[in-house]
Amino acid sequence: MKTDTSSANKEGFNQWTIPWSAPSGPEIDAINAGTFQPVDFEISDEDIASYQRDGVLFLKGAFRDWVEPLRKGLERNLASPESYRFPAESTSADAPGRFFDSYCNWNLIPEFEQFVFYSGAAALAGKAMQASYAQFFHEHVFMKEAGTQRPTPFHQDIPYYCVSGDQGISVYVALDPVDEDMAVKYVKGSHRWGKTYLPKVWLTDADFNVDDEGYDGAVPDIMGHSYLYDLAHWQLEPGDTILFDFKTIHGTTEGVMRDKRSAFSTRWMGDDMRYLARTGETSPPYINTEMENGDRMREDWFPVIWRRQD
Ligand SMILES: [Fe+2]
Repeated sequence: MKTDTSSANKEGFNQWTIPWSAPSGPEIDAINAGTFQPVDFEISDEDIASYQRDGVLFLKGAFRDWVEPLRKGLERNLASPESYRFPAESTSADAPGRFFDSYCNWNLIPEFEQFVFYSGAAALAGKAMQASYAQFFHEHVFMKEAGTQRPTPFHQDIPYYCVSGDQGISVYVALDPVDEDMAVKYVKGSHRWGKTYLPKVWLTDADFNVDDEGYDGAVPDIMGHSYLYDLAHWQLEPGDTILFDFKTIHGTTEGVMRDKRSAFSTRWMGDDMRYLARTGETSPPYINTEMENGDRMREDWFPVIWRRQD
């Protein structure tokens, strides 16, 4: 089923619907007062070390208890895309299937907000990054219907974001089962290559922001030279979780999705993450940020939810 958003989509970019606004609520008040108690999350030193080495880590069933609430949140988003921020349909009108995503709705969708504050994801993110705090960037929800043909091109996430730094992590929670051959592939160690590759327009595979400085060209042809790379991928059950660095190269190879795949990702920043304006549209496409390049991300928009105690 196509919604009206597909006719208006900007070649895979997210649409403007309702404006972004600074979050508020009792948790934000408690954070501002210094009284918010973040939920802890146990992660072994071994797991932290392998995350640091590989830039990606699989945690079996880590957020199993959150699958039902997160699905409910996704349903709200899908039922009324224009009521929420930045919906996108990244499938051509004449192509089969549907690839929907939306983000920055965590303070509009109660299940997402609960996850951000009370799942322990902040502590998990902060510990895995070996950061002294975990600052929340945004959540992102995805739904790919069975029959969708486009694979996801190999890419890093950071060139799409209005930030730069080494301590950035996505906490990706599967909401549907995924067979191993259909799963996203992660290039182990690519977060430490010291490279930032040009982002792509997802629908067309074209590079964009090509005039921005500081990029190391296009993403290498990973599958064409797969013998060069150590690729990680996992069969997923709902609640299985993948942590990965903003700089870790990842993508899919299989075209046609056999089953529906939905997922919920939260993105977190550590000590060294700073604002970076890019010439093209960023993801999320914030405007009027009132930040300069090199600024710490403003805490009234991006709350610090976890701080290291030891
Ligand atoms: Fe990505």
